[in-house]
Amino acid sequence: MRPKIAAGNWKMNGTAAALSELDALTRALPENPPQIVICPPSPLLFRATDAVHGSPIQIGAQDCHAEASGAYTGDISAPMVADSGASHVILGHSERREMHRETDADVQAKTRAAWTSGLTAIICIGESDAQREAGETLDVIGAQLDGSLPEGVTAENTVIAYEPIWAIGTGKVPSLEQIAEVHDFIRNRLATRFGAEIGNALPLLYGGSVKASNATEIFAVENVDGALVGGASLKADDFAPIVAALARA
Ligand code: 13P
Repeated sequence: MRPKIAAGNWKMNGTAAALSELDALTRALPENPPQIVICPPSPLLFRATDAVHGSPIQIGAQDCHAEASGAYTGDISAPMVADSGASHVILGHSERREMHRETDADVQAKTRAAWTSGLTAIICIGESDAQREAGETLDVIGAQLDGSLPEGVTAENTVIAYEPIWAIGTGKVPSLEQIAEVHDFIRNRLATRFGAEIGNALPLLYGGSVKASNATEIFAVENVDGALVGGASLKADDFAPIVAALARA
């Protein structure tokens, strides 16, 4: 049985006042909650891990550097993330790939760094609108998987998030058939490279305009083990119903 995971990516949103959403979310959790990982901006990491103490919610960062320390102004390292009490780190989000020119090789190096610090890497992949229109989706996804994942992937140290770029923050969601096609493809690709046992055990999340209103049908798709949620993770009132839908799935 693969774990079900509801992950929230707050992106560059939230100051200390937003920590109250973690309390509200804790109070709103269903009886048998899935795994929940909230990824706030890095200045909130230490306080967020304090805020969820005693709650099943786990905390993750949104990026880390491949080096453990050094002259990298503005960056944070995997040991710093782990020191905050966080357990996860999102790597290779399309916003970092686009706006910070991160390559698959960068994501792979960051993933190794995350593992070295005992963090679980949530590795994001996804095609652009133009790539989907050109029929290149599976080629793009395959290349991103091959390039971004180091050897040594296990079901404990890695989560894959499929986030079509055109679905992020747009309200556009792929059809359930499109989600199924990509998730099946990812599952097969992982099994081919890492063996059936690891391939079958790795959690695969869907991300891109997930909301309470579409979560149930997305979670019913085979090989969808949860979601990476942006906008709808900022408020407990919006995220709790998504968590509840995953608990029921
Ligand atoms: P939205 O849920 O706001 O579309 O964002 C998805 C995302 O990028 C999560 O990492």
